[in-house]
Amino acid sequence: MTNSNSRNEPVRYEVEGPVALITIDAPPVNALSAEVRIGIFASLARAAESQSVEAIVVTGGGRAFSAGADIREFGRTPCSPTLRELLQAVEDSPKPVVAAIQGVALGGGLELALAAHYRIAETSARCGFPEVRLGLLPGAGGTQRLPRIVGVAKALEMIVGGGQIGAAEALAIGLVDEIAEERQLGPSAIRLAARVSQLGGVPRKVRDRQDKLDKVKSDPEIFERFRAANAKRLRGALSPDHCIRAIQAAVLLPFEVGMARERALFDLLLADSQSAALRYLFFSERQVGRSDADGSEANPRSVRRVAVIGAGTMGGGIAMAFANAAIPVTLVDAEAAALDRGLAIIRRNYEASAAKGKLTPAQIEERLARIVPSLRLADVVEADLVIEAVFEDLAVKRDLFAQLDALARDDAILATNTSYLDVAEIGGGTARPERVIGLHFFSPAHVMKLLEIVRTARTAPAVVVTAAKLARTIGKVGIVVGNGYGFVGNRMLAVRDREANRLVLEGASTGDVDRLLYDFGFPMGHFQMRDLVGLDVGWKRETSSASTVREILNEMGRHGQKAGAGYYDYDAQRRPTPSPLVAGLIEDFSAASGITRRPVGDTEILDRLLLAMVNEGANILEEGIATRASDVDLVWVTGYGWPRHRGGPMFWADQLGLAEVVRRLRARADRHGKEFEPSPLLERLVAEGRSLTGAPRPAASAPLKEEKPCTAS
Ligand SMILES: NC(=O)c1ccc[n+]([C@@H]2O[C@H](COP(=O)([O-])OP(=O)(O)OC[C@H]3O[C@@H](n4cnc5c(N)ncnc54)[C@H](O)[C@@H]3O)[C@@H](O)[C@H]2O)c1
Repeated sequence: MTNSNSRNEPVRYEVEGPVALITIDAPPVNALSAEVRIGIFASLARAAESQSVEAIVVTGGGRAFSAGADIREFGRTPCSPTLRELLQAVEDSPKPVVAAIQGVALGGGLELALAAHYRIAETSARCGFPEVRLGLLPGAGGTQRLPRIVGVAKALEMIVGGGQIGAAEALAIGLVDEIAEERQLGPSAIRLAARVSQLGGVPRKVRDRQDKLDKVKSDPEIFERFRAANAKRLRGALSPDHCIRAIQAAVLLPFEVGMARERALFDLLLADSQSAALRYLFFSERQVGRSDADGSEANPRSVRRVAVIGAGTMGGGIAMAFANAAIPVTLVDAEAAALDRGLAIIRRNYEASAAKGKLTPAQIEERLARIVPSLRLADVVEADLVIEAVFEDLAVKRDLFAQLDALARDDAILATNTSYLDVAEIGGGTARPERVIGLHFFSPAHVMKLLEIVRTARTAPAVVVTAAKLARTIGKVGIVVGNGYGFVGNRMLAVRDREANRLVLEGASTGDVDRLLYDFGFPMGHFQMRDLVGLDVGWKRETSSASTVREILNEMGRHGQKAGAGYYDYDAQRRPTPSPLVAGLIEDFSAASGITRRPVGDTEILDRLLLAMVNEGANILEEGIATRASDVDLVWVTGYGWPRHRGGPMFWADQLGLAEVVRRLRARADRHGKEFEPSPLLERLVAEGRSLTGAPRPAASAPLKEEKPCTAS
C-alpha cells in the first residue's frame, strides 16, 4: 500500500492496487470539520486524476466512521467545501465510492455514507440521525437520500425518532449493501470497491433511485398516519414536524428542489429558539457533575456496594437503579411485609420491562440477584454508601442516621433521600458529618433521570465528587445543589403550587390551570400532577384540620389517582374528568376565606405560575443553592417535565428578556403581593444588560456570522 500523507493530517490517502483508500483520522469521533471536508475533497480529486485508481473507499480511523458535523460550527457560515458541496462531489465521482462504516455513522457522517455509491458496515457499526434531538434535521441531503434507499416509513422512524440502528438492521432495510466481520472491514471494503469498479459505466447514485418513493405516491396518507401515531412526540416541537415536511418533499419534488426545501427548513430550525434551547441543554448536560465540587481537585471514591434503607416507593426504585448499573445492593426494611411488598413491586417492574422487550428473562434474574433483601440494619456493614428512603420525618431519619453511624463502616457515605428536610440536621448527630449527603432521587427512581446531590456546609468535596461520578455511572443527571428547603426542584414547585392554589380560589378552574401548563408543553397540568403523586404525601389524618382544599380532599378520601378521585375524578383507565363536587368545594372555600371570585385570564394564569418559578429560580441562584442557571434548568427539564424545547425556566426567561420578566413581576407584585417582587439577581442582570444563562435573546439567536475568515487549507 502506498501512503503519501504526513502523520497529523485529518484525512489520509492511500492506494491499494486499483483502490484509493480515504481515511478520516480526526479523533475523537471524526467530526466533519472544515479540515476534514477539505481533506476528503482533495483526496477525491486526487483519486479522480489517478490513472491507476478505479474505485474509492472512504472510511474512518479509530472508533467512528464519523459522528457528524462539527457541532461548534453550527450557526456559523461554513467554510467551503460545505458538507453539501462535499457530498455532491462524492456522489458525482466518476469512480465508484464505497463508504466503509465502523463504529458510528451519525448525522452528517451517515449523510456522507448515503452520498457514496455503496455502503459496507462492520457487524458492530451503528447508524442514525440524532439531529432532531438538537432541534434540527439532517441538512446535507439526509432527508432526501435516506427515503430513497430505505423507504419513507423507515426514514420517518429514523429521522424523526433520532435513534440508532445496528448493522444487521441497516442491511435488512437496504441502508448498507454488505456486512463485514469485525476487523475485516478494510479488506472487505477494498474487495467490494474492486468488484464494483468492474461493472463499468457511471456509478449508480442514490439521488436517482425512485422506486421506494413511487410506492408512497399511492399512499400519501402515510405522513398523516405517522403524525397521528407520534402526536405526543410532535406536540409543540418544531423539528420533528420539519423533518416530516422535508421527507414529504423528497416524495413530492425533484431531488434538487427537495434539497433546497430541506435547506430552507434546516435554516428555519437553526434560527429558532427551540433548537437554541435543545443545544443549550445538550452542552449543559455534558458539563454537569464535571466541576461540581466547586472546582475541587478531590478524587472520587469507588462505590462497589450500596445499602438502601426502606423498601417503599423510593427505596425499591433506588435499588433498581443500582442493580441496573451492575452495582449490588442490600435492601433493608424494618417490616417483613414492607420488604416483601417492595421486592414484589421490583419484580413486577422488571417483568413489565421484559414484556416491552427491553429485558430478557435471564437479565431479570441477574438484576434481581443483585438486590439482597434484609431485615437487619447491621447488614449495611459492607456498603460503601448507605441511602435511607424511610418516612419523611426528621426524628425518624435522625434516629436512623445515629444507628447507621454506629453500624456502617467508618469510611462509608451516609445519604438521605429526603424531599424537603434539612440534610445537615438529619446527619447532625453522627460522628461523620463530612460524609453525610443528600441524594434526592425522583419517582420512579429507576426511570427518572434527575438526581439532586445535596451538599451541606460540612460535606467533604471528595464525597460530592463521588456522588457526581456515581450519578453518571447509574445514568442519572446529577445536579449538585445546596441544602435549603426543597433544594432546587421542590422549592420551585412549592411556589408554583402556591400560585395554582391561589388562582383557583380567586376564580380560575383547575382545568384552566392544567390546560395552560399542558399547552405550554408540560406532560400534564399542576393538579393532575398532584393527583398522580398522591395528595396524601406528607398529609397526616391526626393533624389535618380542613385548612386547605387539599386537606379537605384528603379527609374525604380523595387521595388522587390511586384512590380514583382527587382534584379530578378518574375512571378505571385513570382518565381524568373534572369533578363538579371539587369545583363546588373550591367555591365554598373561597367564600369562607372571604375571597371574591372573578374571571382570571390565561395570561395572568401563566404569568403567575411561570414567572413566580423564574423568580424563585433566580433567588436560588442568588443564594448559591444552585451553581449555574443551567443546573436549575436541568432540574426542571429532567425531573419535572419542563418542555425540553423551551430549555428550562431560566433559559425561557432569557428568551422572554429579563427586562420584560422584571416589568411583569413588578406589575404582579402590585396586584398580588410581595412574593412577586423581582429577585435582586434579576434586577442586577437587567441593570448590567446580562442574561441568566449567557444565552442571547431571540433576535440575536439567528445564525451568528463567522467572526474570522476560514483559515483551514
Ligand atoms: N414518593 C416520592 O415521590 C418521593 C420522591 C422523592 C423523595 N421521596 C422521599 O423518599 C423517602 C421515602 O418515601 P417513600 O415514598 O418511598 O415512602 P414509603 O412510605 O413508600 O416507604 C418507606 C419505607 O421505609 C420503611 N421504614 C420506615 N422506617 C424505617 C426504619 N427505621 N428502618 C427501615 N425501614 C423503615 C417502611 O417500612 C417503608 O417500607 C421520604 O423521605 C420521601 O420524602 C419520596
